[in-house]
Amino acid sequence: MSDRPRLWITRKLSDATIERAMRDYDTVVNMEDTPGTADDLIQASAEFDAIIPCHSEHFSADVAARLDPRLKIIANHSVGVDHCDLPALHARGIAVTNTPDVLSDATAELAMLLMLGAARHAVAGDRIVRTGAWDFWSPSFMVGKQLTGARLGIVGMGRVGQAFAAKARGFDMDIHYYNRSELPDARAQGATYHATVESLLGVSDFLSLHCPATPETTGLMNAERFALLPEGAVIVNAARGALVDETALMAALDSGRLAAAGLDCFQTEPGGNPAFASYDNIFMLPHIGSATTATRDAMGFRALDNLDAFFAGRTPGDLL
Ligand code: DGY
Repeated sequence: MSDRPRLWITRKLSDATIERAMRDYDTVVNMEDTPGTADDLIQASAEFDAIIPCHSEHFSADVAARLDPRLKIIANHSVGVDHCDLPALHARGIAVTNTPDVLSDATAELAMLLMLGAARHAVAGDRIVRTGAWDFWSPSFMVGKQLTGARLGIVGMGRVGQAFAAKARGFDMDIHYYNRSELPDARAQGATYHATVESLLGVSDFLSLHCPATPETTGLMNAERFALLPEGAVIVNAARGALVDETALMAALDSGRLAAAGLDCFQTEPGGNPAFASYDNIFMLPHIGSATTATRDAMGFRALDNLDAFFAGRTPGDLL
């Protein structure tokens, strides 16, 4: 019988992460890689001192209330923690951590892909070549929107927003941002601050969302706000599906207010919105913003760093 803390890893994390976890903890990994249900989480709380979950495991207030006191820490393998009811978990005395910083570049890279893919007809273009339907060419064929010199609006200038702005600078975009507070020049990437989302939308030929999903940001992009965008704008969402009213998004595409959308996140995940399938001007990916080999290792190691600190009696670096 080991006296090492017992750790449950809810999903199949990277090999390097699992190897380190096995070395340092009495670890059980769900190698079937199925999302943990409420019952799974509650049962695990009676058998493990720590859990490393992903955003696929939902620690609602109801689950939090039913967790066994054995569980001391939830070391999330994600930066977003909208799947955790933090006040409810804190009320149970459970420490909660996340994995900021390490996924900022991978997520920002994917947001660039979404922006380019949406602006340059990636979905329709790929299909035309792939299906053998490419039997013509014309100067007016598949004409898209150019990033160079265009105005980019960023909602949420945290770590990912800043990384995205840095990459967009390489495309010579005129960058603007909305954030709860203005950033010092050294972190603002030369972007222009807007004190309100409404002010930002008016100058956003391209708009990219990089804020967390909270009660305040849920439905942030609704019909009224889509109407404030310049005609023919492009929206990118690599943050959380809850930020966008999907019915309003389709109406904005139908009206031409939006030319295209690049989405890695959906209100319903997994699965996405089946109604989006008929829109050639929606470029979609299945929530893979941080899915690179290097970043998956870094996320796993960051979660383990947090556990190591906690079980050594120190404050984890990413304690929420
Ligand atoms: C995150 O870290 O929040 C990503 O969405 C992956 O879960």
